[in-house]
Amino acid sequence: MNSWQFDRKSYEKRVQWYTQARFGMFLHWGLYAIPARGEWVRSIERIPKEEYMPFFREFNPVDFDPAKWASMAKNAGMKYMVLTAKHHDGFCLFDSALTDFKSTNTPCGRDLVREFLDAARAEGLKTGLYYSLLDWYHEDYPHYKDMHHPMRENPACSNEKRDFSRYLDYLHGQVRELCSNYGKLDILWFDFSYGDMRGEKWKAEELVSMVRSLQPDVIIDNRLEVSGEGFGSLAEGHPTPWHGDFVSPEQIIPPEELRDPDGRPLVWECCVTMNNNWGYHAQDHYFKPSSMLIRKLVECVSKGGNMLLNVGPDARGNFPEESVRILEGIGKWMKMNGKSIYGCGMSGLPKPDFGRITAKDNRLYFHIFENTIGPVPLTGLNEEELESIRLLSDGHEIRIPKNWITGNYPGIVFADLGPDPVLPDPVDTVLEVTLKEK
Ligand code: GLC
Repeated sequence: MNSWQFDRKSYEKRVQWYTQARFGMFLHWGLYAIPARGEWVRSIERIPKEEYMPFFREFNPVDFDPAKWASMAKNAGMKYMVLTAKHHDGFCLFDSALTDFKSTNTPCGRDLVREFLDAARAEGLKTGLYYSLLDWYHEDYPHYKDMHHPMRENPACSNEKRDFSRYLDYLHGQVRELCSNYGKLDILWFDFSYGDMRGEKWKAEELVSMVRSLQPDVIIDNRLEVSGEGFGSLAEGHPTPWHGDFVSPEQIIPPEELRDPDGRPLVWECCVTMNNNWGYHAQDHYFKPSSMLIRKLVECVSKGGNMLLNVGPDARGNFPEESVRILEGIGKWMKMNGKSIYGCGMSGLPKPDFGRITAKDNRLYFHIFENTIGPVPLTGLNEEELESIRLLSDGHEIRIPKNWITGNYPGIVFADLGPDPVLPDPVDTVLEVTLKEK
């Protein structure tokens, strides 16, 4: 009988840096950057392996400069970076001894994971690797009638001779390589479980036990159990030995805070693309403006979550120009207002009409997305508990007006932002409210 018990204390210690960090960069990169129609191109277009191999023979990202990537992430205010070590197409960005289908065997000839990790660590960032549980290259992974495999509709790709346990040896062996040969990993981002392919189908208990023996502090996502759909066993109040350490809503911010059945706030991270593709897509110019992404990062934090914002580098190893601009725009705001993000979370106050509230210890951060007519009502504050109100970006005092306009609402603390109807920062003007130490 397995004696495994969930240890909440060590779990909470393990995730502490992560819930302080709040903001990270996701990177989806690989052969699919050459067809440049997103990372699912093989599956969506039913591309046979032999028609995908020219991309392998060609892959040579001559502009790949991981130090530049890491510097852009850091300057955007991100505290961690997660790179695809292997995506669903099975192509490995690292020098695995278990396959020839890897970056070191392409004209590129480089161990991209190692260079990425070195560069991110040099910038003082935490590092994570995404590893796909699916593998459309490996002969022992189910093909015909699988839900997603590119050859799922091709009877000639039947599964009689495929040995899934041999595939699991490969999967576990590669995870062991990543956990043994690349230094301290801070996050392992598995992706994804579907149908009956979940949990012990991946031999998840053995896998996580091995991972934790090699990387005892690593944080693991919930996709050995679920995908973006579903929450996982810890969230549901009955953690399994392979429970995810965080819930991973994808392309959506949960409408409300996430809590377990006992009402404990859950650790969660919303992963978001800047346009509509994880991998590089040459025609997808539907990029979210930095103003929108700033407000969505604030929304995640106000609900107790992180944001993992994705960049899909192109086949030469460059970030799309739009992504560079977006990161610069976010970084400008973060430089002035990062204190209202890092280590912050839910305030316990009602969401104000004008924006959102984040909180840390005895500080509340009122994020004003749209100005009010008249002074700003900081509903929920008790004036007796107030130490000060400051504009976070320059530290200047914000006065509390006492006049006939606010006199009708004696229980509400108002903030006077002055005569200019245009906010100091039209994207998000942050007031730092310090409460008296109790
Ligand atoms: C989905 C997609 C995958 C992407 C992941 C990011 O699982 O299948 O392509 O890597 O979302 O969360």
